[in-house]
Amino acid sequence: MVFQEGERLHLGAEAEVWSGRWMGRPAVRKLRRPRAWRHPDLDHRLGHRRMMSEARLLVRMHRAGLPVPALLDLDPEQGVMIMQMIPGRPLIEVLRDPKASREFLQRALESTGAAIRNVHRLAITHGDLSTNNVLIDEEGHAVLIDFGLAVIDYEVERFGIDLHVIDEILGASHPDIVGAIDHLLAGYQAEEMRLGPAEEQTGGAVPTAKEVLSRLENVRTRVRYHG
Ligand SMILES: Nc1ncnc2c1ncn2[C@@H]1O[C@H](COP(=O)(O)OP(=O)(O)O)[C@@H](O)[C@H]1O
Ligand SMILES: [Mg+2]
Repeated sequence: MVFQEGERLHLGAEAEVWSGRWMGRPAVRKLRRPRAWRHPDLDHRLGHRRMMSEARLLVRMHRAGLPVPALLDLDPEQGVMIMQMIPGRPLIEVLRDPKASREFLQRALESTGAAIRNVHRLAITHGDLSTNNVLIDEEGHAVLIDFGLAVIDYEVERFGIDLHVIDEILGASHPDIVGAIDHLLAGYQAEEMRLGPAEEQTGGAVPTAKEVLSRLENVRTRVRYHG
């Protein structure tokens, strides 16, 4: 693979991410890491499947014009994926930056909500919406990454769960940012207003923003009563 290695950006339990250049373009290489506690055959199958699924969904979103990283190269056997480098910092860092203005934070959160809605409109649920998986550029525009757990779905539940995950994280890890989730949800809803009803996808109609927001309320209530 024509990847010139730069520096390591991330070393997680599941993957290692390096910055570098691919055919002269800024790129990142994501390497699947074996999980020692899992049987090697099972680990390989799971990792392979996840990487294929992530790659397939990235291509689908990219074709639809979403600002996700372009897929540049893929070797699922070796567990290697090369994609376009997205400029920006993870939302978690932006939220912890004492120099970030209220206006900037609000824009970043609204843009995150809009980005989530755009993914949902394609019947894709992210499955791991943490503040590490949202990159924010200098203008405050959000790009979602890390679609290894994402799936196509048409039932409203998983869409509601996506919002609930980031709701919980914003509440738990960034309680000082008052109203963070409200800005995000406002961005989610505003994107649907801006674009009009979502186009029907191959599996049928996608839950509307309104339906997903009301499901979020429902999930919150369930969690409150049953832990
Ligand atoms: N396309 C990209 N452009 C820029 N940074 C990226 C890109 N992909 C991943 N990263 C960086 O690497 C980190 C880990 O990548 P991610 O896909 O989230 O892997 P993991 O599954 O281990 O969480 C991200 O949080 C981000 O900081
Ligand atoms: Mg991640």
